[in-house]
Amino acid sequence: MRVMIVGSLSGALGQAARIAISQGARLEHTDAPEAALAKLRTDPAIALVFCDLANDIGWFIGALAAERITVPVIACGVDVKADAAVRAIRAGARDFLPLPPDPALIAAMLQAVSGDSHTLVVHDPAMVMAVRRAEQVAATEASVLLTGPSGTGKEVLARHIHRRSKRAAGPFVAVNCAAIPDNLLESELFGHEKGAFSGATARRIGKFEAADGGTLLLDEVSEMDVRLQAKLLRVLQEREIDRLGGSAPVRVNARILATTNRDLPAEVARGSFREDLYFRLNVVTLEIPPLAERRGDIAPLAEHFARRYAELNGVPFRKLTDAAHRRLLQHPWRGNVRELENTLHRAVLLAPGAEIDADAIELAPLGGVARPAATPDDAASGSISGLVGRRMDQVERDLILGTLAHTLGNRTHAATILGISIRALRNKLRDYAAQGAAVTPPMFGVIA
Ligand SMILES: Nc1ncnc2c1ncn2[C@@H]1O[C@H](COP(=O)(O)OP(=O)(O)OP(=O)(O)O)[C@@H](O)[C@H]1O
Ligand SMILES: [Mg+2]
Repeated sequence: MRVMIVGSLSGALGQAARIAISQGARLEHTDAPEAALAKLRTDPAIALVFCDLANDIGWFIGALAAERITVPVIACGVDVKADAAVRAIRAGARDFLPLPPDPALIAAMLQAVSGDSHTLVVHDPAMVMAVRRAEQVAATEASVLLTGPSGTGKEVLARHIHRRSKRAAGPFVAVNCAAIPDNLLESELFGHEKGAFSGATARRIGKFEAADGGTLLLDEVSEMDVRLQAKLLRVLQEREIDRLGGSAPVRVNARILATTNRDLPAEVARGSFREDLYFRLNVVTLEIPPLAERRGDIAPLAEHFARRYAELNGVPFRKLTDAAHRRLLQHPWRGNVRELENTLHRAVLLAPGAEIDADAIELAPLGGVARPAATPDDAASGSISGLVGRRMDQVERDLILGTLAHTLGNRTHAATILGISIRALRNKLRDYAAQGAAVTPPMFGVIA
């Protein structure tokens, strides 16, 4: 992952840079926000920025927003007063990193941004077949459409295709078409020229150009509006893009993968997805079966997640008992691998004893998609009745674990939503893991 550091590397920030490099990050460095902004305009593959609070971070984040550059910025500094960190977060910083840096904290931040670990666990014959098919088409230049219900592993499989392709040494760039508002998606994909809109004070490169020589994943492509679909079709046909406000097209060389959890032929029939674009994207379709149709993957995936979340939370790895495995096998897993992952994350945090037993495996009722017991939304909408009569620490714990489930385990996001530092969040999680069965957790399942 590409990371940029803004500030002097001579002190503790340099130490943070070395830690990030040792954890696999590739580093860019600039001394000041102005230079950082110039670099970010032309280099959209930079996934994360660490900015020293000695800089005017409010100005920096404002300038990024004005130019529609969506990279997350982490404020950092030595001996920073709480109110300065709070101001940075209010200004739009994603998180705060106290210096000298804690390597585990940097690791958590890098991981939160990079999505997750991209290990692909495959055991069941149905999934082995799907992966084999993916590997066959990986070496070609064909566009691949990955379909399957939410949480089945479309993105992990897309990354696997990239790793097995001739473009493996090039970048893998993912754009979530559902997460970016329509009016920003176009400049995110194609970039813009200076003066293309108010705030566009300089040229900016889009994701298509960032993926040059590599792979571009158009995640949830069905969510793209029809006007942009027409532009995308043209790019796929002509292999060139028009930057917003640009006068001449720019050639691009990116292999396109796309995912959807909708029935695209049905969307085509309804008129909400262009048929010609569908055929362009769908040279090869890879259908990922729901977890319920590949039960042989449940046990190996559960063990993989038990190991991973033990490592992430700094607690020893514990095996699952036979009873725990039986409980997992009986569940319908409507939220697929993501639901299994969240279930194991909770089990790792809350299981007492030397093994993870069945009672630590909390399942959403009927495997459905449940809401957390208490979410910030509930609090905002004033539904306090469910909280009265409960202990403050229990409500806090439910809120923290519910928010984590909501962010799919992304702790940096969760901490931002909760308005606490990622360090405070980590300490809470460590406490919960240490308390084990002393706490009765909420039932909150997967949140779509
Ligand atoms: N075979 C697998 N091995 C290991 N982890 C997996 C596997 N399949 C899915 N996961 C994990 O499950 C989670 C969901 O996977 P992913 O994001 O790829 O699903 P998706 O199909 O893209 O879901 P959505 O439609 O909601 O975007 C991720 O954290 C991913 O790492
Ligand atoms: Mg996805």
